[in-house]
Amino acid sequence: MNSIVYSSEQTDGTPIELKCEHLINPLGIDTPKPRFSWKLNDKRKGAQQSAYQIFVSSDSVALAAGNGDRWSSGRQFVSDMLVSYTGPALKAQTKYFWRVRVWDKDGLPATSSIASFETGMMGAERWKGKWISDNHDIHYKAAPYFRRTFTIQKSIKSARAYVAVAGLYELSVNGKRIGDQHLNPMYTRFDKRTLYVVEDVTAQLRSGKNAVGILLGNGWYNHQPLAVWDFHKAPWRDRPAFCMDLHIVYMDGSEETIVSDNNWKTSSGPITYNNIYTGEHYDARLEMPEWDKSGFDDSAWQPVRFRNPPSSTIVSQQIAPIRLVKSYKPQSVRKIDEKTYVFDMGQNMAGITELKISGREGTVLHIRHGERLHPDGRLDQSNIDVYYLGDKKTEPFQTDIVTLSGKKEDEFMSRFTYKGFRYVEVNSSEPIVMDESTLKAYFMHSDVRPVGELATSSSLVNNLWKATNNAYLSNLMGYPTDCPQREKNGWTGDGHLAIETAFYNFDAITVYEKWMADHRDEQRPDGVLPDIIPTGGWGYGTANGLDWTSTIAIIPWEAYMFYGDVRLLEDCYPHIKRYVDYVDSISPGGLTTFGRGDWVPVKSQSNLELTSSVYFFVDATILASAAKLLGKTEDQKKYEALHQKIKTAINSKFLNASKGIYANGTQTELSVPLYWGVVPENIKEKVASNLNRKVEETDFHLDVGVLGAKALLNALKENGYGETAYKVAVQDTYPSWGWWIVNGATTLLENWDLNAKRDISDNHMMFGEIGGWFFKSIGGILPDPAQPGFKHILLKPIFPKGLNQSSVTHTSPYGDILSSWAVHGETILYDVEIPANSSATFYPPENIRNANVITLEAGKHTLRLDLK
Ligand code: BGC
Repeated sequence: MNSIVYSSEQTDGTPIELKCEHLINPLGIDTPKPRFSWKLNDKRKGAQQSAYQIFVSSDSVALAAGNGDRWSSGRQFVSDMLVSYTGPALKAQTKYFWRVRVWDKDGLPATSSIASFETGMMGAERWKGKWISDNHDIHYKAAPYFRRTFTIQKSIKSARAYVAVAGLYELSVNGKRIGDQHLNPMYTRFDKRTLYVVEDVTAQLRSGKNAVGILLGNGWYNHQPLAVWDFHKAPWRDRPAFCMDLHIVYMDGSEETIVSDNNWKTSSGPITYNNIYTGEHYDARLEMPEWDKSGFDDSAWQPVRFRNPPSSTIVSQQIAPIRLVKSYKPQSVRKIDEKTYVFDMGQNMAGITELKISGREGTVLHIRHGERLHPDGRLDQSNIDVYYLGDKKTEPFQTDIVTLSGKKEDEFMSRFTYKGFRYVEVNSSEPIVMDESTLKAYFMHSDVRPVGELATSSSLVNNLWKATNNAYLSNLMGYPTDCPQREKNGWTGDGHLAIETAFYNFDAITVYEKWMADHRDEQRPDGVLPDIIPTGGWGYGTANGLDWTSTIAIIPWEAYMFYGDVRLLEDCYPHIKRYVDYVDSISPGGLTTFGRGDWVPVKSQSNLELTSSVYFFVDATILASAAKLLGKTEDQKKYEALHQKIKTAINSKFLNASKGIYANGTQTELSVPLYWGVVPENIKEKVASNLNRKVEETDFHLDVGVLGAKALLNALKENGYGETAYKVAVQDTYPSWGWWIVNGATTLLENWDLNAKRDISDNHMMFGEIGGWFFKSIGGILPDPAQPGFKHILLKPIFPKGLNQSSVTHTSPYGDILSSWAVHGETILYDVEIPANSSATFYPPENIRNANVITLEAGKHTLRLDLK
């Protein structure tokens, strides 16, 4: 093969933050066309990329010397910074190195440093290992441990463990746990798609005798106790199992694979029970010290059992992993009596606790997690222990049970469960001493990188933003959930209602790419999707309609808006089509009642047919736009016509054109059609003014459920009522978002009414639009649908009365977008930063008198704006 040569001059505009498949130096890439992306480290005014060239090689030394011997893209005279590999077929289980050279606006070149990606199995055929399990059935409670030893004679260059698991696992090599990731692999429909994880174990292997250990948990694969969503009836349910290829490359170039087979042995151990939904039970007396080291005597361990793979599709897990991201010491410890202590961790979160304690042998501790306290200071789980139908005596909800060894300070941290909590009550069977050092909490979630910053002169705005992000992260465990305690369900509606807030604040695309693959797995041949995804079968009822399951269209579209990446839309296209075609077939007139409606409203009920039909309209619109983008002209025509038909049907039935009212004119009924673009241009003003009046009538309080909460602030702000929207956003008496915060919430809640009797989780994301809205309003940072991924930015800030200063940053695919302003008397100083290779158009709000619409190139700008 000809090698491609380049030189390596550097200028200011070096490409940085190289990613492959949106991840940094990933292992286990299975796609034949990985996506490369980068940013420019170029702060100069008007910075642009005029051309790029990508070089890929399997030899880093050659690449450093200027040879991209695998592929060169050739010099492409375009500003693209997200490019798919189109070179010769990549080899499986191979490390590739890549770099990119760019030319700036003056044609000067700059070359990045070297990044890498490593391919995975690229298909099921390469696996050498067998699927193995222990000899127990689905009802057996204790977690199985597996081990094998082997000898290495040569020096090792690299070693990777490819671990496919039905259930959850922890891998250890020579007594050391590998990696810092938790709850691997992520939840999928195990009978359709099973994920494998690639672990780098080079540093843990050594010459001579080695031991490798695997511990399996049930996860969502073998759900034992009952809950209303029938997890225990999942068609895939079985005893957890795994398949592993431990692939070793030696210095001399030879290779060896240690696989899961009948050389392994298995045993139960100290984890006597584990349930992702409920808790983990641990008996320190049953510990097996050094079970994962080579010298351990495993003569009492059992042979393993061969099993069928859970599914024929085994694919690599390419996602931001779950980690223990932040730790919390107790803010206070209250001793209730000799045997009972209550810990306040100061923050509601999803996660686990770590216990360190000494006590008499056989002492049993119940570590109970929850969000609330009774007036007497004891833990109150009544708001979350609602749908759990297991045996509450032996398998209590959100409770770990630990039995002490009596021999040493025992340590316990659950491995295969997580909980939603702020407070922890520990009940001991014996009198025992506890203090601040006994318990530590870990906030655990998909470790997505923050890409949003907000700091304003309003502490309410700042706290609302923080609470929103804490609720978001608490509900991100490889898929978005509704709540981390009561359900842990991937409720579709909650997922799309929060999607803009998600993307403004976190680089979370990998989580949604995985979740959309789950959607594709769950879709019935007729197009229908379930309410909750993934699901063991529950959720194909009657309410799983448009306002919830439009995830299939909305999320790929928003990923395209925020990342400029069309891949997810392409992958989902046939599925969006099947979904829209289904709804079309049951809705010949263009209207549908398939949906749930404006869930958890304050007071007013809104028309179900109106809101469901609007979401049908949204899906048809996205489908028509996607068809256009992907060059599917016939489809484009068909779905543009459908889009028009639905719009006409909605307006004929629900719009009173002379009054400018939809249905009964609730806040939701007015804001949903406005926000989603159903209202005819010439009537928009009337509808918006009615909405404004409606909000004034409630003295700037909310009267919406989840669908209205998504639309209301946007509908007001986008139609000239930014001031009203802001007043609603920072309202702090009931009913409002702020009411939660002034009552001490550290996350968003499920119900406006703090005294409601149901739907009262304290960590919900379905009202989460507020956190993203600040980026769109006081930040005014919006993607431009014509040049998505912030290639071009629409800057439409508002400077509302009562807010003196605001600084909002979104780290877009091009780099940081800063929108920061401060009021000085009658003047506003507005600082803007536009990243290299991007540009913006600034639209001044109504209360500015001296500004016109202006275009801003990359770089820093300060605008002096006069208030009216
Ligand atoms: C969940 C919600 C969900 C809703 C739908 C609730 O139990 O917690 O967030 O969207 O059900 O009915």
